[in-house]
Amino acid sequence: MKTAKICKEWELNFNSLQSEDDVSLHKRSYLHYASEHSDFVAAKSWATKWLLENILPDQPYTCHEYMAGIGVQTVLTQKLFNISKHIVGELDPECIEHLEQQEWDVKPIFKLESAQDAIKDSNDCDLKFLDLPSSSILKITREWKDCFLPLFENDPKLVVWTDTSITYHISIHGEKYRKILESDELLTKEDYIRAYSEWLYKKFGYSIKRAAIRGRNAVYFAAVKGKEETIIKEFPLNENLNGFYFLGEERATLDGL
Ligand SMILES: C[S@@+](CC[C@H](N)C(=O)[O-])C[C@H]1O[C@@H](n2cnc3c(N)ncnc32)[C@H](O)[C@@H]1O
Repeated sequence: MKTAKICKEWELNFNSLQSEDDVSLHKRSYLHYASEHSDFVAAKSWATKWLLENILPDQPYTCHEYMAGIGVQTVLTQKLFNISKHIVGELDPECIEHLEQQEWDVKPIFKLESAQDAIKDSNDCDLKFLDLPSSSILKITREWKDCFLPLFENDPKLVVWTDTSITYHISIHGEKYRKILESDELLTKEDYIRAYSEWLYKKFGYSIKRAAIRGRNAVYFAAVKGKEETIIKEFPLNENLNGFYFLGEERATLDGL
């Protein structure tokens, strides 16, 4: 067994890590991918901690994670909020097995199911997390239209989701995004984030309070009810390596060896 440290404070155990070099790309489990890309997970850990910490008043919340992966967000959610009920869903059986093996402060209800089915069946929690492997405003309003848009319909306190459009320079798809967002010209990723928040407010009365940029390929959005000024913070990979490392391997990880 290997133990990882998240944000230098909290632990996550891994019982069955193996290299998946010989498994075809689309069949690989996120469990093995994540453990082999600890720099991504490390920056994600600090980014998520910043995103969530003190964002809501301290009171009990119900929480539904629709794509729980290896459980970084699960750990951070339980440590940073007072959770009264935690539903943890995921499509990958290996991830669910790994999550079931952890010791949790609040034992989650685990569900091996697609986010699409889960949102149709259970969409009434206070906190919702949709950690999409790939998304943009284009995907959200097309492929994910029937699942993403309803997330805002039951008066949630917080909706967190992932956008990966910054993987490409804004000049590539910016005009398509601008049309959907009905905004002025989008010249930077910050323009995109602020236009997204305006659009969300016009559509649902929610706005993006915090946006955490992880490296060069993901932004985590945290939206709350009402009109908020969006605070944007960057978490470059090379400055955040100590957000996630395996005990006993910290020197190698942090030296980038
Ligand atoms: C970015 S990872 C999630 C990371 C996770 N939140 C964490 O903190 O460790 C995306 C996850 O979504 C899962 N996934 C992909 N499509 C899904 C779907 N339609 N429904 C549920 N889970 C899905 C993948 O198996 C993968 O584990």
